[in-house]
Amino acid sequence: MQAYEITAPGQLALVQHPEREPGPQEIVVEVRSIALNRRDLTLVDSARSGPRSAIGLIPCSDAAGRVAVCGASVTEFEVGDAVVTRFLPDWISGRPPSRDVMPAFGGPHPGVLAERVTAAATSFARPPTNLGPNLAATLPCAALTAWRAVGGGDSLAGQWVAIVGSGGVSVFALQFATALGARVVIVTRDVTKTERLQKLGATAVLAADGPWHDQLLEITAGRGVDLSIDMGARGALSRLASVAAPGGIVSVVGVVDGMQAEIDLAPFIRRGVSLRGVNAGSRVDFAAMTQFMQARQIEPIIEAVVPFEAAADAFEVLRAAHGIGKIVIRRDGHFASPRS
Ligand SMILES: NC(=O)c1ccc[n+]([C@@H]2O[C@H](COP(=O)([O-])OP(=O)(O)OC[C@H]3O[C@@H](n4cnc5c(N)ncnc54)[C@H](OP(=O)(O)O)[C@@H]3O)[C@@H](O)[C@H]2O)c1
Repeated sequence: MQAYEITAPGQLALVQHPEREPGPQEIVVEVRSIALNRRDLTLVDSARSGPRSAIGLIPCSDAAGRVAVCGASVTEFEVGDAVVTRFLPDWISGRPPSRDVMPAFGGPHPGVLAERVTAAATSFARPPTNLGPNLAATLPCAALTAWRAVGGGDSLAGQWVAIVGSGGVSVFALQFATALGARVVIVTRDVTKTERLQKLGATAVLAADGPWHDQLLEITAGRGVDLSIDMGARGALSRLASVAAPGGIVSVVGVVDGMQAEIDLAPFIRRGVSLRGVNAGSRVDFAAMTQFMQARQIEPIIEAVVPFEAAADAFEVLRAAHGIGKIVIRRDGHFASPRS
């Protein structure tokens, strides 16, 4: 089959990649749409997946498609079913299953920037029935992470939520938090996105290079922020903690400026603020999210759809970070409409 492989740092090549027969518990999925995450860009740029080399690896984790072949023991899917990949295939329910880093598609497992994907049936899920493949492909990593970062469906009625950034996870978090009843403030490096973010429900949009933590206190009339979502921009975690309301939560999601942060412990001790680490979610979390999206008719925002043959361009669109929606790569020529 055709697939993209990482050939050097920052380099992708479309190659003929060997395919294997599915085992009894596995399915083969014909990929229609692939959605990019910042993780994919970081992995391709560095040609590393954690401590390992990613040379020869097929990148990307998030895809939607149809079941083409079912292994002999597979009962949950049939040929022709619409499916999406799950970002952390080994996590079924409850807490994360182990202390080790969980394997994901596109590092260390082979990824989905390919014609077909073969993996255990439990590595896939059913998308909401109202979403076509371009929209469904955006859900496995970014949407599920946002869903858990906002609390997995708990009501946020009357609460203030602050979200840093306006990329994939941030925009899903804005959509979910708004639907759960929160008033949401976005902190962005690019305030020209204000109108689009307000249309999605943002109460206010603040400039990341300004005194946004003071502004958050003004906007909330001194109460502080009940829930904030940190993408790892330098210095943001400490500022979010400093403006948290008593008993507030800071969800730690992103690492856009690296894995380290310096943080003042006072808000955690004095005001009972909690840190909530988020690593995507389980199969059960994914099912709860899709049910919610279906019930509330929430549709992912897509910025651009790029043909499979031009996949490298899609990575450049993501790198530019000009938009607020997801970047999708489409395999079968239907890339004119984001919703197709
Ligand atoms: N924990 C998890 O399970 C999980 C899951 C998915 C993603 N992540 C992580 O969460 C972060 C966001 O992922 P994403 O897929 O939403 O990325 P994305 O679509 O590229 O969005 C990232 C956003 O962060 C803001 N940002 C602030 N400082 C930045 C910087 N120095 N470099 C790049 N962006 C910066 C930008 O918004 P403005 O331009 O508006 O400021 C940008 O749009 C990444 O670090 C990713 O690895 C973690």
